[in-house]
Amino acid sequence: MAYDIYQEEILEHYKNPHNKGSIEHPDLFGHGNNPVCGDDISIYVKISDGKISAVSFDGRGCAISQASVSMLTDKLKGMSLEEARKMDIDGVKEMLHIPLSAVRLKCATLGLKVFQEAAGETR
Ligand code: FES
Repeated sequence: MAYDIYQEEILEHYKNPHNKGSIEHPDLFGHGNNPVCGDDISIYVKISDGKISAVSFDGRGCAISQASVSMLTDKLKGMSLEEARKMDIDGVKEMLHIPLSAVRLKCATLGLKVFQEAAGETR
């Protein structure tokens, strides 16, 4: 099946997540969960010269939510904050390359939602 390669990539990110862990004194921090299943994600962002110099996540959840936030952190690194704020659901769909039901879309966009909330507020 044509989606196999993407499903493998998702499983790989799930098993070996990129940018996992917290960052001390982040410039941006966000936390959120999916109350239905309990998946839980925190995102830490460091900004330098208007760009995302470091980003990481912590949490637990299903393969899609964890792989999606792992891929998202890879993508966000090096982006300007302005550019990163434009990341949307279509961007997440593009990253995952698999068809997503309404339920799976909630899993896939949990990390994005947490990042968007974090990016809306500097502490
Ligand atoms: Fe909870 Fe996927 S099952 S976010």
